[in-house]
Amino acid sequence: MGVVVTVVNQKGGVAKTTTVSALAYILREKGYKVLCIDLDPQRNLDMLAGKSVAIPINDLRTGSMLQVLNRETPLKNILIPTELGDLARASSQLSSWTGRPVLTKAEFASLRDKPEELIHLLDERFRTTDFSKELGRLIPTVRDEYDYILIDTNPSLTLLTLNGLYAADYVLIPAFTEKSSREAVIELWNTIQGILYYEPGKYLKVCGILLTKVSQKTNLFRTYLPPFQKIAAQMGTVVFETSIRNSVAASECMGRYENIMKYSKNSPTGQSYAAFAEEFLARIAALEEARTHG
Ligand SMILES: Nc1ncnc2c1ncn2[C@@H]1O[C@H](COP(=O)(O)OP(=O)(O)OP(=O)(O)O)[C@@H](O)[C@H]1O
Ligand SMILES: [Mg+2]
Repeated sequence: MGVVVTVVNQKGGVAKTTTVSALAYILREKGYKVLCIDLDPQRNLDMLAGKSVAIPINDLRTGSMLQVLNRETPLKNILIPTELGDLARASSQLSSWTGRPVLTKAEFASLRDKPEELIHLLDERFRTTDFSKELGRLIPTVRDEYDYILIDTNPSLTLLTLNGLYAADYVLIPAFTEKSSREAVIELWNTIQGILYYEPGKYLKVCGILLTKVSQKTNLFRTYLPPFQKIAAQMGTVVFETSIRNSVAASECMGRYENIMKYSKNSPTGQSYAAFAEEFLARIAALEEARTHG
């Protein structure tokens, strides 16, 4: 059964997409079956999934997560093979997705000539459907076919992000060594606690905070590591030992339509993602072991 890891931080530009693409590429090279789901209307994951995906960037004939979330097509139908494993692409129109009531064909046919009853049913369905759980509802349709399902999210706490969180077993939080980034992590933790409060039986754990774009020599890193470690402890998680180093290559690769591991695995960023992947696998294995044995 695949493990679902959602990469979240409502703060923009903290390397969520770079992390999803690097991790997916490494896991796939190791022989794991990987599915990437893009919930970000910016569609940046397309640009890191290989030239064959990025170049026809406007060609979404295969469908996108928009049709999937609107229940117009099954998740399996939109998957395309890429260097990151199978990819469920986002759509720029996802930004206006607010969920909408769904009726079965039979319900619609039986009420076609009774508009008042139809409106009543739509209204009822709208009030009683929890649109933050749409993606979570779909995960079982693909879970068995993958080892890792990685979800990239948008930089804000919206209905899309909530879908990513509800669908997850684990949350991975990339963050900068900055005060504003620390505050964003605290806000995210409050959201996760809110989810667990309303759904106490749900399995949802933060697998760790990953510090990104780090130049380890800076005072900023030394100043902010201890507070991040303190927040992580409060969240019952860790700051990964590996932090992701800055590099010019990492800032270039999106423009070349390649993820950092393909573009420059020997760059400081590439090397740190390789080390991080080992730590990530060990951490997930330990958490899954604890999950299984109570
Ligand atoms: N280690 C790094 N060193 C240098 N530049 C990096 C590094 N990681 C990411 N970048 C660059 O920082 C920018 C933001 O990265 P990325 O798109 O992965 O962040 P994000 O959190 O997904 O952003 P958004 O919130 O907009 O989705 C990109 O231009 C990327 O190339
Ligand atoms: Mg992104």
